[in-house]
Amino acid sequence: MIEILNKEFADDVHSGLTSSQKSLNSRWFYDERGDQIFVDIMNMPEYYLTNCEHEIFCDQTEKLIQVLDIDETHFDLYELGAGDGTKTMELLRAINGADFTYHPIDISFHAIHNLEQRVQNELPEVDVRGIQDDYFSALGKMQSDNRKVILFMGSNIGNMDDEKAHKFMCKLSETMSRGDVLLLGVDLMKPGHIVLPAYNDASGHTAAFNLNLLERINRELDGNFDLDKFIHRPVYEEDTGFAKSFLQSKEKQTVRIEALDLSVDFEERETIFMEISRKYNDSILRGVIQDTGLQITNKLTDSKGYFADYILKKV
Ligand code: AVJ
Repeated sequence: MIEILNKEFADDVHSGLTSSQKSLNSRWFYDERGDQIFVDIMNMPEYYLTNCEHEIFCDQTEKLIQVLDIDETHFDLYELGAGDGTKTMELLRAINGADFTYHPIDISFHAIHNLEQRVQNELPEVDVRGIQDDYFSALGKMQSDNRKVILFMGSNIGNMDDEKAHKFMCKLSETMSRGDVLLLGVDLMKPGHIVLPAYNDASGHTAAFNLNLLERINRELDGNFDLDKFIHRPVYEEDTGFAKSFLQSKEKQTVRIEALDLSVDFEERETIFMEISRKYNDSILRGVIQDTGLQITNKLTDSKGYFADYILKKV
């Protein structure tokens, strides 16, 4: 018996699994278990993204404060997809005492709850007001008249294709006023022998992360996916900068999802497209922010040049 049926989740799973290229939206990865696995992913040696951005936040904190134009003026600090907030804590610690309210936004209730506790414990002077929502509807909650500093870190934009990213940047820009700034953290294009292991780790965390979504369907939508019958298959297209994750059916099979009254047939080797992790360079980013009213004013990279925090200003 399913007590709470998340209508949006159900509709999304239905449309994804009835398309010719089956797909599931990676936004649903982040249930309580998914959050835990993602923390494991961020801690594994192959997943360089988090370490690189953390290095930027640790080693270039003063520079960050300067390029974000943080001074005595009151401002609202929004963070889209705040997660566990480890990198942001470096910045918060350095601007502790400035006149601002911190609004972390995350689709995960657990993430927001934990982060609020953490900030209250470690930095009690900081006024923190978490928002549990997805990126798109969160934009509607960013309507304050104060100066805005927006953080969109961790290559979270990488889960959007370029068209979706462009639309998102248009909407995000509409919430901003002249002089407001956006820090956008993106993973940079680089050779496959570095990128691919980040999505194909030896310890199997990334496989578990993907398979957990099938398990979530089993749990929340009364499905009967047999997780042993699917294999995690990541690919990286080095020339275009697209990392993609698929789950591949080991055999011909039919999966039943009771809550959707749906039977899904799989051919042997048929795939479910799970996630896109877009890698950037200057020209890809310029394309994505074209005609949005946002302009690149700075670019901070880690010492290896793997990751970039771009500073975009509304003009
Ligand atoms: C949270 C979207 C940045 O794409 O690198 C990590 C998610 N997926 N390993 C990414 C993820 C598999 C991650 N982002």
